[in-house]
Amino acid sequence: MKPSLWTVLLLSFSALAFAPERAKADLDYLVGIGPRVAGSPAAAQAAEYLAAQARAAGYAAEFQPFSYTRSRDTGSSLSLGPTRLEALALSGSPGGTFEAPLQAVPGIGAASDYAGLDARGKIVVVRRGVIPFLEKARQAAAQGAVAVVVVNNEPGAVRGTYGGVGPIPGVTVSGSEGEALFARSGERARLVVGAVLEQAQARNVIARWPDSRAPSVVVGGHYDSVQGAPGANDNASGTVTVLELARSLAGEGWAKDVWYVWFDGEEDGLWGSRNFVQAFPERVRGLKAMFNLDMVGVRASPALGVGGDPALLRLLQQSGAQFNDIGGSGGSDHTPFAQAGVPVLFFHWGIDPNYHQPTDTTADPALMAETAAVVRAALERILKQ
Ligand code: BES
Ligand code: ZN
Repeated sequence: MKPSLWTVLLLSFSALAFAPERAKADLDYLVGIGPRVAGSPAAAQAAEYLAAQARAAGYAAEFQPFSYTRSRDTGSSLSLGPTRLEALALSGSPGGTFEAPLQAVPGIGAASDYAGLDARGKIVVVRRGVIPFLEKARQAAAQGAVAVVVVNNEPGAVRGTYGGVGPIPGVTVSGSEGEALFARSGERARLVVGAVLEQAQARNVIARWPDSRAPSVVVGGHYDSVQGAPGANDNASGTVTVLELARSLAGEGWAKDVWYVWFDGEEDGLWGSRNFVQAFPERVRGLKAMFNLDMVGVRASPALGVGGDPALLRLLQQSGAQFNDIGGSGGSDHTPFAQAGVPVLFFHWGIDPNYHQPTDTTADPALMAETAAVVRAALERILKQ
């Protein structure tokens, strides 16, 4: 039967809407693959899926391969006499085994926290937070420490990264086990950092409307996840929201120069976004904005958080969208763009309890749709007027 005019109209309009059921199917597919560690067969499968889905929606999709050195954790621990703590090597940490006294550093391991302490030849213990892991390691190395133990600022464990190759070995320990270390300064400890350096072969996926020459806006999110976590909220949620947004904007004239980029290697230190910025300086120079979606499928705070460029935030406010202005913050793929002078917006719903855990298995398509509506409002403000 020939579809009626109304059916055709209805179909063409529904194709423009963000479809939560489609987002749900994408999410189930990605989470079903398992942890999408950069360079793994699972990540390759995810990248193929994204490219295929983008092509099916009418886009030209290509891969941007890149590689970098990272360390793989082969098992780490910290022992004091009979006490043994599980430790996680920081990504980018050299490996090694050390027998040395502990030096508790009160604070987060900034230079000033070392006043009056002698850390030479010791294993220093600092708290997580405020400054990057790499900065803590640099300070510890400058003080002559042999290794650094970072105690999580929450009870559980956390997998951290130097975002590059660190100067001395470094591990994290859980907050619940690690807090006690601050009372054991001076005791001899044995730290095993099981880390081997390896080359990761990663790739971004870039989708653009076939006749688009250069992007006016990049909308992206990382599709890789940490080892051991299926990465539903972090960040299949952002990945899928970007994909469904792309489908819903396919063929829209005003959105023709929006490029959709799924970044790889984020969890090892923003490698995908950095490589994009480095590889395509002329594209980056011409950008009106970059939007990054990272953790948009679990309501871990009352309102959608949006941070970044003040002028863009004002623009978004004028659109009447509901969100919480979280100011400028780092920790995800908008950062290299912001550093290159691109106005950015970073969208997320906060850190949920399953962050970087094997239990990161669910994300809510309705929340993703809500996020996409705000992203779309921002795009319309930028590109339609
Ligand atoms: N998804 C997180 C970033 C994030 C944090 C988004 C809070 C929304 C709210 C990201 O994958 C991550 O874990 N980033 C690292 C740093 C990065 C350089 C590896 C982090 O925040 O520790
Ligand atoms: Zn993330």
